[in-house]
Amino acid sequence: MPDKIIAVTGATGTQGGGLVRAILADPERRFTARAITRKLDSDKARALAAAGAQVVAGDADDPASLERAFAGAHGAFVVTNFWEHFSPERELNQAAAMARATKSAGVRHAVWSTLEDTRLAFPLEDPRLKTLQGKYKVPHFDAKGEADAIFAAEAAPTSYMMVAFYWENFIYFGQGPRKTADGKVVLALPLGGGKLPGIAAEDIGRCAYGIFQRGPDAAGQRFGIAGEVLSGPEYAAAFSRHLGVPISFYDMPFDEYRALGFPGADDMGNMYEHHAILGEEFRRHRSPEVARALNPALQSFDTWLRANASRIPLG
Ligand SMILES: NC(=O)c1ccc[n+]([C@@H]2O[C@H](COP(=O)([O-])OP(=O)(O)OC[C@H]3O[C@@H](n4cnc5c(N)ncnc54)[C@H](OP(=O)(O)O)[C@@H]3O)[C@@H](O)[C@H]2O)c1
Repeated sequence: MPDKIIAVTGATGTQGGGLVRAILADPERRFTARAITRKLDSDKARALAAAGAQVVAGDADDPASLERAFAGAHGAFVVTNFWEHFSPERELNQAAAMARATKSAGVRHAVWSTLEDTRLAFPLEDPRLKTLQGKYKVPHFDAKGEADAIFAAEAAPTSYMMVAFYWENFIYFGQGPRKTADGKVVLALPLGGGKLPGIAAEDIGRCAYGIFQRGPDAAGQRFGIAGEVLSGPEYAAAFSRHLGVPISFYDMPFDEYRALGFPGADDMGNMYEHHAILGEEFRRHRSPEVARALNPALQSFDTWLRANASRIPLG
């Protein structure tokens, strides 16, 4: 058993789960995977243990539990789940607790799954993007970006990973093509005529593992990753090819998207508008080249869709 441990938060979820699988799949067995969860007896936690990971308790709302969970680890992967509570303040507190615990536990290299603080490009008084909750532009981005300074000052040496839109959102997050009342199938996303960087969820953990393989020398570096960067019509054309029905693209106006009414619709709408206004300035921080250098098995959208077309609900 290798003695270098990577402690993984979010291990029962998408990003951390992919990292645990990448560590366990390494034929050179360079690291031991330690999966951190609040629910030791969940099916997902049991499956990680059966696959060969250490499974330990840890809760981002309980700093002492984090220090125990990170103790003795060489590396720590840190991810927060905004969508569980929708509170940027709580997400910032969780990120800060995890950052500080990496340092107090003596971790050598942390990888923090962050996103941009959009308020750096769009100060609150900037009318191009609506202000939400009084002090945010894109709440689920801003708190993560705000936490970067805490990682820089109070955490173990940290690398920063910025992740693109998961293509799995087309399956689980209601973002995929839909049948309209007249029987046509439409992919509706608010892209403002721009392109959307996306990535296969399983590739995220593999990229994070690539950062850990570079080691603490990669501390301070930012890795913005994507599998491919496509326009709305390009996504629709790929769906048409793989699903065997004509699918058109509707570039939904941002206000229409924000008014859809699902929890977080305003936050998501602002996210898309932020991407569209910044254009290339945003997209250059989500790079397939950067991702492929970390993870040579990186999937294109076509590859991902070939494997996942049957899981796309067209309801
Ligand atoms: N969807 C996208 O396109 C996209 C793109 C970029 C970034 N993101 C970001 O990705 C993040 C979510 O990551 P994910 O998709 O990997 O999550 P996920 O699949 O929804 O799983 C959530 C994970 O977080 C853990 N967790 C939640 N609260 C916790 C707490 N208080 N203490 C310890 N662990 C906790 C859960 O562990 P247990 O339940 O086992 O404790 C679980 O493993 C979000 O913040 C989102 O903004 C998403």
